[in-house]
Amino acid sequence: MSNAEQVEYWNGKVGETWVRMQERMDLALTPVTAALLSLAAPQPGEHALDVGCGSGETTLALSGAVGDDGLAIGIDISEPLLARARERAEELLSEADFRTADAATFDDEADGFDLVVSRFGVMFFADPVAAFANLFRLACPGARLCFACWQPPSENLWATLPLQLLADVLPPQPPADPHAPGPFAFADPEHTGAILAAAGWQDIAFHAMPFAMVMGTGDDPVAAAVQFALRIGPAARAVREAGPAAEAVAKERLAAAYAGHLAAGEVALPAAIWLVSARA
Ligand SMILES: C[S@@+](CC[C@H](N)C(=O)[O-])C[C@H]1O[C@@H](n2cnc3c(N)ncnc32)[C@H](O)[C@@H]1O
Repeated sequence: MSNAEQVEYWNGKVGETWVRMQERMDLALTPVTAALLSLAAPQPGEHALDVGCGSGETTLALSGAVGDDGLAIGIDISEPLLARARERAEELLSEADFRTADAATFDDEADGFDLVVSRFGVMFFADPVAAFANLFRLACPGARLCFACWQPPSENLWATLPLQLLADVLPPQPPADPHAPGPFAFADPEHTGAILAAAGWQDIAFHAMPFAMVMGTGDDPVAAAVQFALRIGPAARAVREAGPAAEAVAKERLAAAYAGHLAAGEVALPAAIWLVSARA
């Protein structure tokens, strides 16, 4: 997908679905947010940039940590997600500043960022070296870069299980280019490290983090998990495009499978990310 296609994608139905799923997504990603912020260690007074901030969970946390003397800016290309982020900032009386911008071309009048953070917002660039070079240009000397990206699909059952269960009812999925823009584009540390180094970043490190991704909770955790899988993730679009008959089969099979992952009132599936750190 080109950057223009990404803009169309994140401003269309997908952006609206992510807005509707914001609370559920933030809950599912709670361990990621905590680990990312702990690695980033934002300090009072720092200038922080959140790349591909979506509906603002991490920007709002950064804003609280840098305080009134600091600055937290979230950039994204998705208007519906930015609208939700701004709404949340108002509700929380947060100073977080949300801007419509592409990471590859964003410019800022501020003195430079001490910290560049992203929770799953950096794997969608058509030209990742150019985008990370722009972020490097915006960073102060010695600034920290910290982001979360997915490990390969093989380590993320939450993403692959629906596709496995529905292989006979969905059209054959064409083999994907593992480095093409998308959720798993940075799954290979060698590839990601080469991109960051080419863009000027140093001291690049990858920290593996497995976690249990809560897909469903509440009154009916299994039904909530089915709804989650049919709205967000690799299977959601394929099932929608395959039509109502495939969707009915999907609901039935997913419910049976997720019942096997129900424990303590939650449906949680194995997930794994890389926490990536580097310095300008
Ligand atoms: C998987 S979502 C993650 C959103 C948010 N960080 C979160 O964790 O909920 C990826 C986000 O990256 C944004 N994005 C994609 N390409 C971008 C670009 N070139 N510049 C800025 N944001 C981008 C999308 O609009 C989307 O909000």
